[in-house]
Amino acid sequence: MMQIMSIMATAVMAIGSCSAPEVIPSVKDEEHEVKLEENMPDSKPDPSEGKTLVIFYSYTGNTREIVADLQKQIDCDVVEIIPEGTYDYNANNYKIGADQINAINANPDKESSYPAIKETKIDMEQYGTVIIATPLWHARMASNTQALLFQYGKQMSGKKIELIVSSHSSGISGVESDAKRLVPDGKFTKSLWINAGNHSNRAALIKNWLTEIAL
Ligand SMILES: Cc1cc2nc3c(=O)[nH]c(=O)nc-3n(C[C@H](O)[C@H](O)[C@H](O)COP(=O)(O)O)c2cc1C
Repeated sequence: MMQIMSIMATAVMAIGSCSAPEVIPSVKDEEHEVKLEENMPDSKPDPSEGKTLVIFYSYTGNTREIVADLQKQIDCDVVEIIPEGTYDYNANNYKIGADQINAINANPDKESSYPAIKETKIDMEQYGTVIIATPLWHARMASNTQALLFQYGKQMSGKKIELIVSSHSSGISGVESDAKRLVPDGKFTKSLWINAGNHSNRAALIKNWLTEIAL
């Protein structure tokens, strides 16, 4: 609209200073008006342009350590996911975590399937890249990370989505499919998997990965 107004202003000024106003196209002329619209650049910003946001959850601290090293290597904002209530996820052979993951798997489209997390206000529009750093639970994305993505995943459409997964030893394909389900229109690249065997080498792994994904 600003551009149309500025074009209109230019046309008015031109009419005022020109001795032959009839040759100057009028913005009231329907045909010309269409051409002005056609020449306007797309006013919607590219969703993959903007700052980098890191969203993470950590129960026993490994993902937190990964994010701390990541923050030393890139310029980013960071949001931590905090569950409502305190849980001993290690108790009874990890039963609470298993129950939460099973509830999500049974009904992934229902909000009530996801555990309650503390309210987080994210202005997603200012970010072009979102890095999701999460533990793996029972071969899937930790339930609290899934809860945040259930709320914000659709707002991440068209953005670059980078996944970092911390597990003890399990492979991360289940976490990648959870991420793709919850952020269906994200532009995913290569995930970074850090496990008990290479966690101590995380700074170098992050550095290589950042180079690979060109961030
Ligand atoms: C509820 C629960 C379930 C887990 N399930 C798995 C699993 O299936 N496979 C695996 O390799 N590690 C599993 N782990 C281990 C975590 O993925 C691993 O310790 C990770 O580094 C934890 O990240 P955090 O310290 O940021 O919470 C599980 C941990 C918890 C608490």
